[in-house]
Amino acid sequence: MRPPEVLRRASAYLARHDVESPLPTAEALLTSVLGVDRAGLYTRGQDLTPGEARAFGRALCLRCAGTPVQHMTGEQAFRRLTLVVRPGVFVPRPETEMLVEIALAELGEAPIVVDVGTGSGAIALAVKDERPGATVFATDLSREAVELARWNASRLGLEVDVREGDLLFPLATELRGRVDLVVSNPPYVGADAYGALPPEVRADPVAALVGGPALYERLMTEASSWLRPGGVLAVEVGADDGETIAEIFRPSFDGVRIEPDLAGRDRVVVGRRR
Ligand SMILES: C[S@@+](CC[C@H](N)C(=O)[O-])C[C@H]1O[C@@H](n2cnc3c(N)ncnc32)[C@H](O)[C@@H]1O
Repeated sequence: MRPPEVLRRASAYLARHDVESPLPTAEALLTSVLGVDRAGLYTRGQDLTPGEARAFGRALCLRCAGTPVQHMTGEQAFRRLTLVVRPGVFVPRPETEMLVEIALAELGEAPIVVDVGTGSGAIALAVKDERPGATVFATDLSREAVELARWNASRLGLEVDVREGDLLFPLATELRGRVDLVVSNPPYVGADAYGALPPEVRADPVAALVGGPALYERLMTEASSWLRPGGVLAVEVGADDGETIAEIFRPSFDGVRIEPDLAGRDRVVVGRRR
């Protein structure tokens, strides 16, 4: 069978199993199995070999059982970059691209930026890519995340200093009071809500998902002592958490605002250090 017909059937199969975006999912899995780009799927004039058909069938079954597509393809697009991703490190989400957009709008040409909880390096690398004059640091508690972020930085040729540890503690003390932007997409799912998350979300590490206001409060306190006066703290928040997090920021930050996403849900909270 030729790829277009394979895709039609695979997409119907994924839809029957309630997988979101069935056709793009089938395309992503088949491009990965065949080692071609999306256009190549539709122009390939040969049938799938039995080995390719078996590998694709396995990938479809794994997806239906809750394995994220990105764990099978090994990559995720984020703004202008293609990041390597792997199980054990949070897969960057499209909604976080908006946090980068908002953060960039706050920056001059040669700012000092810190991405706290960098995961695969998505935010830090996108900022460096789109604001090459920036000096960018990134931290993460997870050794696996630090290794992956460093790998992404080196393969993309983007200079980001990635350090292992809690919040901003891994940074050199001479940066205190000099940072222009602290940006973060911290874990924000409540422990009570974790069990109700879909399996493909629970495929991310628990430590990358479960957190909440106490972590934002620690981040806000730490960020206050590393940011210069007027420096910006920009964080992603859960859909209903904007006001709770904005309240945490207000005692130390000016101009605190909640930015909604395209669906009108709370997405980003921003403020300037007093
Ligand atoms: C929701 S993930 C976000 C990853 C990445 N910034 C992104 O948007 O794709 C949260 C990340 O924060 C890290 N993390 C959790 N607590 C942390 C802490 N106290 N200090 C530093 N990193 C932390 C986790 O290991 C995880 O990589």
